[in-house]
Amino acid sequence: MARCISIETARQEAITEAVAVLSRGLPVAVPTETVYGLAADATDPAAITRIYETKGRPRFNPLICHMADLQMAERYAVFDPVSLRLAERFWPGPLTLVLPLKAGSGIHTLATAGLDTVGVRVPQGFAGDLIRAFGHPLAAPSANSSGKISPTTARHVLDDLGGRIELVLDGGPCRVGVESTIVRVEPDRLRLLRPGGIAVEALEEVSGLPVERPAGAAAAIEAPGMLASHYAPNAAMQLEARRIAAGDALIRFAGASVAGEESARLVLDLSPGGDLAEAAANLFDYMKKADASGAAHIAVTPVPNRGLGEAINDRLKRAAAPRES
Ligand code: TXA
Ligand code: MG
Repeated sequence: MARCISIETARQEAITEAVAVLSRGLPVAVPTETVYGLAADATDPAAITRIYETKGRPRFNPLICHMADLQMAERYAVFDPVSLRLAERFWPGPLTLVLPLKAGSGIHTLATAGLDTVGVRVPQGFAGDLIRAFGHPLAAPSANSSGKISPTTARHVLDDLGGRIELVLDGGPCRVGVESTIVRVEPDRLRLLRPGGIAVEALEEVSGLPVERPAGAAAAIEAPGMLASHYAPNAAMQLEARRIAAGDALIRFAGASVAGEESARLVLDLSPGGDLAEAAANLFDYMKKADASGAAHIAVTPVPNRGLGEAINDRLKRAAAPRES
């Protein structure tokens, strides 16, 4: 079983131990403001291979490379003026920019799955300090088995990957709770590859460019990780639910009620007061709780599709999509 160190009570020990494990070419589960990441040295092919093996992740799916700050990111990726403006405004934070990779910079081609671009992000708080102490960028997908719901607590990570990794750092529940927004800047628009913790409206405002949303299959090729049946719970998801059957689980938003809810097995409200940021922070934990309740179906009431609601609806749709097994 993995060792678990709290970054609240033993921050320096957490950094020292994590650097030691990373230096041996092994992955460490690290809290970020979005979700927990399974982090390893982005310049070490053996370390990156361990990430793919631990998650059971297909190798055509590139990893986000995490940097301590913008200066470090500029050593590995080429910034156009709009990407630079977005980075200056939103880093550290839940924004990933897909940028041309600087040839010979050291990021290994296994991390980028052979693409000539790299997904770069500067995380907030502890993860940034760890990268600074380690000195190399960290490739880090979410710390879950491939296709499962992303972890937002150390407990989630231990339950899923605890038997396969050495070290989990516990930073408490993730503040944002959904993964970073991924965009690629083009001359006349921003291409949204994944909605996430930075609202699309904010990207439009800061860049002055329109955002083009992913259109089905095209997006799957551009961001190969975005397979339809990601985030699969065991229970069947029923979105926009108006009624539920006895024994089903209900996840609602802002107190919305549905017919039959008095015989639900479990009722959870993402945000009784209708706050989308609070709803995003609760989403994955509530999906896991509803799934663990043993309900055959998880019914979900509608969530407004603005701000962080866009990321919430994206993850719910993926969880409800037909399984690719
Ligand atoms: O919030 C987050 O982004 C979390 C935390 C740990 O930072 N990380 C995360 O990583 O969600 P992951 O591996 O679960 O998702 C990375 C996504 C994949 O869907 C992949 O296709 C896309 O980023 N991606 C990475 N590099 C890319 C590139 N060069 N071009 C296009 N898409 C890329
Ligand atoms: Mg993931």
